Amino acid sequence: MTQTIGVGLGQRAYEVRVGGGLIDRAGEAILPLLKRRRTAVVSDGTVWGLHGARLTRALETVGIAVSPVIVAPGEQTKSFEGLAHVTDRLLALELDRGDLIVAFGGGVVGDLAGFAAAIYKRGIGFVQVPTTLLAQVDSSVGGKTAIDTPRGKNLVGAFHQPKLVLADLDVLATLPDREMRAGYAEVIKYGLLGDFDFFEWLEANGPRVLRREPEALAKAVARSIAMKAEIVAEDETEQGRRALLNLGHTFGHALEAETGYGGELLHGEAVAAGQALAFRFSAAQGLCTTQDARRASASLAAVGLPTRLADVAGHPFDTERLVGHMAQDKKAEDGALTFILARSLGEAFVARDVDPGAVRDFLQQEGAT
Ligand code: NAD
Ligand code: GLY
Repeated sequence: MTQTIGVGLGQRAYEVRVGGGLIDRAGEAILPLLKRRRTAVVSDGTVWGLHGARLTRALETVGIAVSPVIVAPGEQTKSFEGLAHVTDRLLALELDRGDLIVAFGGGVVGDLAGFAAAIYKRGIGFVQVPTTLLAQVDSSVGGKTAIDTPRGKNLVGAFHQPKLVLADLDVLATLPDREMRAGYAEVIKYGLLGDFDFFEWLEANGPRVLRREPEALAKAVARSIAMKAEIVAEDETEQGRRALLNLGHTFGHALEAETGYGGELLHGEAVAAGQALAFRFSAAQGLCTTQDARRASASLAAVGLPTRLADVAGHPFDTERLVGHMAQDKKAEDGALTFILARSLGEAFVARDVDPGAVRDFLQQEGAT
């Protein structure tokens, strides 16, 4: 069964479809969006090798000519060099403004191809076909696109909404378990930030989601996307409530920056540790109960995700370096630290102007030097 979730953005509204076999039917889904029967598919070598033939067949069946634009897998591809490569290929293919491109991969491909679409000939349309759990529940929806620079992650980008998102659950069959767990950190985020019932359901059903049991997986992905769609429709450019989606990200980004954005610590793993830290910091500030913080942490640890600084390679971390990264965060304003903190499980809020001294003390209690 395919579930359809609308992202209500007026002129830029679009559908996110969730279900099995969507890649095999991608041609029929994408054809109505095209002015002429051709498209460029941006993908990484791994995803293209595993699933490229299936997507190509689905598009060619309805007469759409496919030009693959293949990039190297990994975060390092989300760079100015990666962007130059993709836009140069699109120019060589003579794609016009009326054409659209397909982003076929995880968050790296989605962010890179989405940003290329935002700036190519001042903007062309694109379709997201996310192939990781993280990309399905988070990065493919909402229109944030970006590349990294040596100064930090996602610092150069644009809001550019896709025309359609096809989240095919079958494609997750080939995703390594570690990547599946990393994506699950973003699923649990939705429960923790705004839906206690969903959180409780995940406590009981998380292992089923990770085993990719179709019914549990479909519910987890669709509920996550529905929450994201609702928040994005209300606050597309993150003037307020959308910042809640960054639960765990201030601590998480600092850990990612320290570990070097490599395979050492995946984004979702950093977000898992960051969420546990955000709940414990909230408890330390008297904002939520210690019991809630323990439960948040236990739900992540139960599936093998990191929840403590000591779980992350690179421990012990230097407090000043971590706080330094937090001050560079896009959410920081005039050097004041912004965190997403919690009043309870399922109730997060944006805390601006957090005292860096309190953060330092907390990090030291957590084992930073
Ligand atoms: P990723 O795109 O690097 O994919 C992870 C790995 O899985 C890659 O090696 C990829 O080749 C492989 N892979 C992908 N699909 C596969 C499949 N079906 N089977 C087997 N292997 C597969 O990483 P990710 O976790 O999907 O995304 C992380 C990126 O997303 C980060 O750059 C992060 O900044 C970004 N992000 C963006 C947003 C947003 O709103 N735009 C939100 C969250 C994260
Ligand atoms: N991943 C956070 C957002 O899309 O706003």
